[in-house]
Amino acid sequence: MSNAKRVGVLISGRGSNMASLIEACRNPGYPAEIIQVISNVPDAPGLEIADKSGISTKAIDHKAYPSREAFETELDAALRDANVDLICNAGFMRLLTDGFVEAWRDRQLNIHPSLLPAFKGLHTHERAIEAGVRLSGCTVHFVRTEMDSGPIIAQAAVPVLPEDTPDELAARVLEAEHKLYPLALKLVASGDARVENDHIIFKNRPALHGAYISPWYE
Ligand code: GRF
Repeated sequence: MSNAKRVGVLISGRGSNMASLIEACRNPGYPAEIIQVISNVPDAPGLEIADKSGISTKAIDHKAYPSREAFETELDAALRDANVDLICNAGFMRLLTDGFVEAWRDRQLNIHPSLLPAFKGLHTHERAIEAGVRLSGCTVHFVRTEMDSGPIIAQAAVPVLPEDTPDELAARVLEAEHKLYPLALKLVASGDARVENDHIIFKNRPALHGAYISPWYE
């Protein structure tokens, strides 16, 4: 039997980060496998990508539930039915209650398109350009009750170029996201990265300790 960690991926839209995780899991020896993809948006394009890859998909439409808690009860049940070890939020656009977050503490990862703790929340690229930062990037972290915070597993930095539009910066960051998420999941699923005192400890001391700079260092 495989020792790979069983992963549930939560999406709300296009699913390109999810696709990068699916691709990574195809590599022999990768320490995780995607068992279930769940979207809170029934027509999210990512569901079809997962389905075509032969992965079980489920839509749980948050609008069909009277409260956040009722939606999350269903979500939690689906993840437990699938016997999931880890959750990866990949463009999942619902805020989760403290109850759900604590139930999956240190087992739920999220990717955010900025170098946290800078630019939490939405419209990160517009705000990075507006602030005039010369570097932006992306962060994979464990989920905590405060939005876009939690122990940082890995970050990748990309340049912000003088004439960048938000879309151009978003595309550069997204390319980094597609490399970073598989690396971060590998660090966690293999046990190389674990949480201690709400910080990440690396077991095998990888050369870059989860820090990546474009052009990409392996
Ligand atoms: C990504 O930029 C992710 O960091 C952010 O939303 C976007 C989702 O893109 N949270 P996709 O659905 O993974 O293509």
